[in-house]
Amino acid sequence: MSGCCSPQGHYAIFDERFARSVADRYRRRGLTAAQRQIIGFLSRRGVEGATVLEVGGGAGEIGVELLKRGADHVTTVELVSSYDAEAASLLEAAGLIHRARRLQVNIALDPDAVEAADIVVLHRVVCCYPDHQGLLASAASHARRLLVFSHPPRNLATIAYAGAQNLVFRLAGHGFKTFMHPPAEMLATLARQGLAPVYRHRGALWHVAGFSR
Ligand SMILES: C[S@@+](CC[C@H](N)C(=O)[O-])C[C@H]1O[C@@H](n2cnc3c(N)ncnc32)[C@H](O)[C@@H]1O
Repeated sequence: MSGCCSPQGHYAIFDERFARSVADRYRRRGLTAAQRQIIGFLSRRGVEGATVLEVGGGAGEIGVELLKRGADHVTTVELVSSYDAEAASLLEAAGLIHRARRLQVNIALDPDAVEAADIVVLHRVVCCYPDHQGLLASAASHARRLLVFSHPPRNLATIAYAGAQNLVFRLAGHGFKTFMHPPAEMLATLARQGLAPVYRHRGALWHVAGFSR
């Protein structure tokens, strides 16, 4: 695969420097507002003893917090390996490294590479992948109980912003694009996989949607 969706395309943006900045922010300031919405939704539904699959989990802050709240085990799948050192450092600092593992997998193209989990999380991921249907259908097929994902609000301002951002990426020669997928289509994909919407939060930067099977 080439262009915006190859691991190389993602690595141009989500490199070790990006991973360090995300992990450092979490070390200094804890969870972001959107991450708190995700953790809050899952905690209210119950994470005790749950297995978690985080797709595009980056440095793994959400996984660390779910393990602290009693989740049994977290598997993170990522297109790139650039986060691995920071993710291991966050897990080690929390004494949780033995309850987590990471795989370098494109879950949309290789769904069988990872097993199902009670809870599936995708935070800030659908906007980095062109085939939202393939990505969400695969993620949903792995969700035994709950799925939660975030996406940017889709309006004229965010579509224009994404267009400008993509122009900058193209001019800089980065093989990466962002996408403002239609929320209704993403929700319809999850409904076809047997997931019912049970939670919605509309933040300024990220909308969070929670689903139950
Ligand atoms: C904006 S980053 C977000 C990372 C992390 N969730 C966070 O909020 O910091 C999006 C991540 O999704 C990953 N990603 C995108 N499509 C993916 C796919 N099909 N399978 C696995 N990971 C994917 C990319 O490698 C990238 O690291």
